[in-house]
Amino acid sequence: MPIGPDEFKRCMTRWASGVSIVTTRLGERIHGMTVSDFSGASLDPPLVTICCNRESRTAELIAEAGCFAVNVLAADQAELSDRFASSKTEQSRFQGLETEVFETGSPIIRGGLANFDCSVVARHQAGDHVIYLGSVEAARVRDGEPLLYFSGGYRVLAAEDDA
Ligand SMILES: Cc1cc2nc3c(=O)[nH]c(=O)nc-3n(C[C@H](O)[C@H](O)[C@H](O)COP(=O)(O)O)c2cc1C
Repeated sequence: MPIGPDEFKRCMTRWASGVSIVTTRLGERIHGMTVSDFSGASLDPPLVTICCNRESRTAELIAEAGCFAVNVLAADQAELSDRFASSKTEQSRFQGLETEVFETGSPIIRGGLANFDCSVVARHQAGDHVIYLGSVEAARVRDGEPLLYFSGGYRVLAAEDDA
């Protein structure tokens, strides 16, 4: 059954995901965008994938820099997700944010649930997107509730009593 882009997009809204900010650094320049297409790919060695629109500035910079970091957002970070997804805030996305670096120099954003600092080991053109495979050079995790994305909106986990 053939499917058009709009119907495909509608079908994909039924896939619930977490939300992350993918960042990168090229020399003195840092940049990042909101990404939900993030997945673990291998445990040993640790590998992850991200999928970026080919037209995004972030995808272009990652191609040049050869590295990226995935910062998994917590339930109270929806504002950050909006900020890193909007073209209006393209120049001010990192304003007031506390960041640090691990190994690659990609900005690690504090306050989230997990951070993966990665070197690009493979890149695959996938239609209007590009898939990056990253080798995880360093990572950190902390407890907390995740920010979720489903059916075009943010969600949080139900309290255990409501489940
Ligand atoms: C919840 C959410 C998830 C998103 N996930 C992705 C994604 O996985 N891949 C992608 O290319 N864009 C994704 N976007 C859109 C980008 O964040 C947005 O196009 C951004 O402005 C691109 O910035 P840049 O061109 O400065 O890199 C998402 C946006 C939102 C709000």
